[in-house]
Amino acid sequence: MVSISERIHLLELDVVDSTNRLAYDLGFSGAKPWTIVHALEQTSGRGRRQNDWLSPRGNLFLSAILKPINGLKRWSELSFVISLAVADTVAEVADRSSIGLKWPNDVLVNNKKISGILLETGNNVKKESYLVVGVGLNIAHSPTGTRYGATCINELISEKSSVKIILPILIKAMINWYDIWENSGFLEIRKQWLKRAHGLGKRIEIIGIAPKTQEGIYTGISKDGRLVLTKDNGEKELVSAGTVTFV
Ligand code: BTN
Repeated sequence: MVSISERIHLLELDVVDSTNRLAYDLGFSGAKPWTIVHALEQTSGRGRRQNDWLSPRGNLFLSAILKPINGLKRWSELSFVISLAVADTVAEVADRSSIGLKWPNDVLVNNKKISGILLETGNNVKKESYLVVGVGLNIAHSPTGTRYGATCINELISEKSSVKIILPILIKAMINWYDIWENSGFLEIRKQWLKRAHGLGKRIEIIGIAPKTQEGIYTGISKDGRLVLTKDNGEKELVSAGTVTFV
């Protein structure tokens, strides 16, 4: 069994604009899989849909370069894989029943967002494809003014935690779930993810799918990770992207 320190290449920084930006550039220059960029602070953290990701010191920011053996055809499955890793990490300190996974890749505790995941794909100088998986996990601060409520690990426990404590737990969990995905496939990941899914069976609105917002009941996840929306006329629609709001 290869130890974690042999498996990863950890680049630890004080401040960077965005760990995803740096990992993307390193990936382009041919950095090895499981190169992980970690920074204590980001000045231009990137979120999904061109949003900013507030990145004060005390929260956790990392980006991993991955080159799945499956190729990048199934790269979107990794949001589920990494969400499970974040959920396990948070479960070290929070009650498991308070943790929920919101499609496609948010981790919630008591219905508030504690973590976000951003996947980006690229092709390196040798034209090989790679993936950057960025994880932001709130430890000491819960950003205010977000569209949805936010929480952080230190709001959940009496004895304060820190990036130093959480970082190795998260990396270990990422490797664990990544290996489950590569060895057992997405159906196992989907099964585990559904056990922790937030809001299954509830009425939702999905924003950001051109040309219109859609509404219906969130009835499941398809075998390839799309959200199953059952509309009022009974028709089922498979949704591959968008922001879910519970109505
Ligand atoms: C989201 O919008 O929910 C995704 C947020 C992803 C933020 C992380 S923090 C580490 C990495 N570097 C970035 O610039 N973004 C990701």
